[in-house]
Amino acid sequence: MRLYVNVDHVATVRQARRAAEPDPVAAALLCERGGADGITVHLREDRRHIRDDDVVRLRERAGTVLNLELATAPDIVALATRLVPHQATFVPERREEITTEGGLDLTSPAIRADPRLAESIARLKAAGIRISLFINPDPAVIDRAKALGVEAVELHTGEYSHTYRESARELDRLKRAAAHARTVGLAVHAGHGLTYDNVQAVAGIPEIEELNIGHSIVSRAIAVGIEQAVREMRGLVDAPR
Ligand code: PXP
Repeated sequence: MRLYVNVDHVATVRQARRAAEPDPVAAALLCERGGADGITVHLREDRRHIRDDDVVRLRERAGTVLNLELATAPDIVALATRLVPHQATFVPERREEITTEGGLDLTSPAIRADPRLAESIARLKAAGIRISLFINPDPAVIDRAKALGVEAVELHTGEYSHTYRESARELDRLKRAAAHARTVGLAVHAGHGLTYDNVQAVAGIPEIEELNIGHSIVSRAIAVGIEQAVREMRGLVDAPR
């Protein structure tokens, strides 16, 4: 299982003061020392946390790989084409949201009629970037992702993280979706809302090969430091295998 650590919220603290610290790139290097297999950042259109310069510096300095989350904004697609991160994960983006709220609804008439996603995928693929799409764990959406010619899907675990204490329904949905994605030939990633309490059931789903985790690790880092926070998550993620 690959553990990719999302350092957006290190930049959130920096931007709260428009200061120079804490530096998400320095944090990323510590995450790597703690056992991260990759670093994830979301360059949002409003640049509310990660900025272009962070992505440039991460591309230069990360010792592992960079997974860039993005929507289809032309300037961000152009930056990705220039920097060539290892992986680009397309996510839906609404300015007023606090965090990414749902997966890309690839079956909706609006997205199907909009050429921007397919065009952006084609541009980044031509640059040699591995493409993943962040989607809800829904077989019909997985089939659309396959038709778009991407390598991977990242299953949205937000609903699971909200309901896992009361019901196994969302975990079952993730298991079925992961099996379906693998059957149609897609690599399976997962993320959003995963914590030290709820990660292990998801890490135990055999088809899932990559987890993207941010908020919980950055929160734990306040108590124990980010290297140790990653080391602890690494242990939980590896245990079910
Ligand atoms: N995966 C995707 C596609 C995301 O947008 C996010 C949040 O930026 C995450 C994973 C990480 O979510 P969290 O911060 O809740 O761990």
